[in-house]
Amino acid sequence: MENYKQIKEDFMLEFLKNDKKIYDVTKLEIGRQQDNLELIASENFVSLAVLQAAGSVLTNKYAEGYPGKRYYGGCEFVDMAEEIAKDRLKQIFGAEYVNVQPHSGSQANMGVYMALLNPGDTILGLSLDHGGHLTHGSPVNFSGQIYRAIGYPLNKETKQLDYNIIEDLAVKEKPKLIVAGATAYSREWDYSKFREIADKIGALLLCDISHPAGLIAKGLLNNPLEHCDVVTSTTHKTLRGPRGGVILVGKDRENPLGIKTMKGDRLKMMSEVFDSMIMPGIQGGPLMHIIMSKAVAFGEVLQNSFKDYALQVRANAQKLSSELMNKDFQIISGGTDNHLMLVDLTNKNISGKKAEVALEKAGITVNKNMIPFDTKSPFVTSGIRIGTPAVTTRKMKESEMIVIAEFIDKAILNYENDSVLESIKSDVKQLCNRFPLYPELN
Ligand SMILES: Cc1ncc(COP(=O)(O)O)c(C=O)c1O
Repeated sequence: MENYKQIKEDFMLEFLKNDKKIYDVTKLEIGRQQDNLELIASENFVSLAVLQAAGSVLTNKYAEGYPGKRYYGGCEFVDMAEEIAKDRLKQIFGAEYVNVQPHSGSQANMGVYMALLNPGDTILGLSLDHGGHLTHGSPVNFSGQIYRAIGYPLNKETKQLDYNIIEDLAVKEKPKLIVAGATAYSREWDYSKFREIADKIGALLLCDISHPAGLIAKGLLNNPLEHCDVVTSTTHKTLRGPRGGVILVGKDRENPLGIKTMKGDRLKMMSEVFDSMIMPGIQGGPLMHIIMSKAVAFGEVLQNSFKDYALQVRANAQKLSSELMNKDFQIISGGTDNHLMLVDLTNKNISGKKAEVALEKAGITVNKNMIPFDTKSPFVTSGIRIGTPAVTTRKMKESEMIVIAEFIDKAILNYENDSVLESIKSDVKQLCNRFPLYPELN
């Protein structure tokens, strides 16, 4: 085990040794990732190939513009990397147009909004406190400041999407853009219903698949591309790539973006609309090392083994949620269709904030999260969000989910007892040691 650790540290840290402070920080973070149970739904562990591409010499290259049309010389090889990333992403989702340059999911959403909307236009997205993302219209985010943002709630009884509520709000508020997708919602989306609603009022439809993208990629969940004008995603959650964002448009929309009199071909029109908004509209030079790393990750998604991974992510989430329910944890909506679950801790008499702290002491990383119709503030919350992408990457399966549910239950019951939390932490470490972070380095 010591030997394994040594090999891994040499690989990760070799060239940082001359910068003691940074060397120490990186070493501590490697240890944290190895020894803790990572249950944050938006995190994952990339492969060594993805990591190597992200740390490659492509970071040295300025390449403002797009393949074949750069503002700098010497771009012939980074052009190849970007084209590979684009081709693979199109293949994964059946897209006609993609942009792989957004530095993050937020930048992808900002690019789309700025391309399609004018300041003051109305957008309609899932309320932040019901699972929507900051960029779907939060007042503390550009999306809620530049645009008139209306949030649709979940159904109070089912805690699920209610298409009648969404339709009524859409008819009343007449948004120019409806946003589907969420950051903390565990159920399937019916994009055809969103399309019907958007068509009824002549709105554009964006879907942000940042969270479930990896499951959609392998056909485990509905693919929104055929129904939406445009789709955005991060690349670092269930897609298991480097941190970043992408924009996609499907092949099947007759009039993508509602543009009926298209000049030239569709692809050219979409490129003009979105490419020019990402660069020069809101970004400068693309992160070519990250774009190449996205290409590597997309290559992995295209492999058959990624389907096994995605299936296991969902199976693990379903097992963990049913095990927690057996221990009298309230899972919002009664289960999950994807990689995450929201746990309502009200009956456990502990806030999300306290639960997050106690679990962290026990070596289990989750985030506090508002539950639909929460009475507590976003800094306290009544719930936690739990996801299985990262532990599944470490090859944990249903039997480990049973153990993890026991750890969580024990930690929540003993949240004020540091010695119990300490003993769970050592059990967690033992479990983690059985599932090394990068076993290839052994
Ligand atoms: C649904 C959704 N959209 C967008 C984002 C933003 O991504 P990033 O953090 O890369 O800006 C997130 C991140 O949590 C997300 O969950």
